[in-house]
Amino acid sequence: MSGRAAPARRVAAEVLAAVRDDDAYANLLLPARIAQARLGPADAALATELTYGTLRMLGRYDRIIRLAANRETSAIDPAVLDVLRLGIHQLLATRIPPHAAVGDTVALAPRRATGFVNGVLRTVSRTSAEEWDARLTAGLTGHARLAAEHAHPEWVVDALGAALDADGRGGELAELVAADNVAPAVALVALPGLASVDELGEPGAYAPTAARAPGGDPAAVPAVRDGRGRVQDEGSQLAALVLSRARPVATGERWLDMCAGPGGKAALLAAEAAVGGATLTANELVPARAGLVRKALTVLDPAPAVVEGDAARFGATHPGGFDRILLDAPCTGLGALRRRPEARWRKRPDDVAALVALQTRLLDAAVEALAPGGLLAYVTCSPHPAETREVVAAALARHPGLAALDTRAVGQDVATADLGDGIGPALQLWPHRHGTDAMFIQLLTRP
Ligand SMILES: C[S@@+](CC[C@H](N)C(=O)[O-])C[C@H]1O[C@@H](n2cnc3c(N)ncnc32)[C@H](O)[C@@H]1O
Repeated sequence: MSGRAAPARRVAAEVLAAVRDDDAYANLLLPARIAQARLGPADAALATELTYGTLRMLGRYDRIIRLAANRETSAIDPAVLDVLRLGIHQLLATRIPPHAAVGDTVALAPRRATGFVNGVLRTVSRTSAEEWDARLTAGLTGHARLAAEHAHPEWVVDALGAALDADGRGGELAELVAADNVAPAVALVALPGLASVDELGEPGAYAPTAARAPGGDPAAVPAVRDGRGRVQDEGSQLAALVLSRARPVATGERWLDMCAGPGGKAALLAAEAAVGGATLTANELVPARAGLVRKALTVLDPAPAVVEGDAARFGATHPGGFDRILLDAPCTGLGALRRRPEARWRKRPDDVAALVALQTRLLDAAVEALAPGGLLAYVTCSPHPAETREVVAAALARHPGLAALDTRAVGQDVATADLGDGIGPALQLWPHRHGTDAMFIQLLTRP
């Protein structure tokens, strides 16, 4: 076990270091490192479990380290701290035998710290995961307790609680934060006109374009390999389809995806536009991400235009110029914590105000660029009330005549199964209810 697992641990340790030092995204970096290290399927699965599990539980493991090492984590060399976190994850959350978890993890530590790492991990191993839980949550109640139990910063638990309240689901907070710690099932999208759901696998749960990935590497599915199918969360699929299917498409409609990178929703919208006789323009601020959008759209013939720059310009350059607009706004991503294991620890509560200002600026521009009677979808992969319902409410107050459409009803018409209750007119999806990211979707129109 220990010999076989060593390369997987090394890859996990490298990704943890890059996340810490270079602000890398584990979900993007890990597959590249797995390929570079030529890990077989079993080692790749172990490297993924170690990396994702350790990053998700970081706050919890740091509290355990503080108790077991009897010192603040800020007083521990960051590289040594990563090794300790990785070891604790193996001891408390996997079935790796303790001697292998400790021995192989110590081997990753800088030579000067091997004694320290060995001592701390042995201390941790003498107490069960359940007992550690009891110690970490002793005396805590409410959100503080949920934060400790499910390894979320408390401000995130507060924000998710407020978002659930706003959707009439106040009692579901424990289920939501637990769902954030479970790896999502891989969903595929069959791009309309290019692939069928049957080609990809069993139908998905809600989106008519969705299939459940058959196990293993999704790229092994021929339609995914040639770009006619893609990996895409069902909530993201519904967000695009709510815009494209809210009403029939008239030939010649002009569509705009303002914030398109890396291109998931743009690919689905482009396929929908091609089927309906509309034309899509995809815009992205960051050139490298615009490149990803171009790549995602090459499967379409002709490929839609991809342009680069601040989407706020469209209000002035194309007033009333688009019949349908997707504003999939930059956000905290608090609805996609399952996929971005480090995100909960990286985001700060004071990030929210700057994002709300950006979302507001982009939404104002979207309203200006929308043709009279057109459809605008404001979408975030965060359910945070400040980024969702409050941004929309403020826009409705600023723009006379701007109206919120019953997006729950549209979503229900589009979906293949009952989406359940919620407080409209927005459609809010939830990981614990729908198995999707917590996408917020609000359709707007103007006179
Ligand atoms: C939530 S992501 C979009 C995801 C995308 N719609 C998809 O489904 O693949 C938001 C994107 O907005 C881009 N962005 C940030 N500020 C922007 C701006 N001022 N104008 C245009 N795009 C911007 C980010 O680089 C990021 O790629």
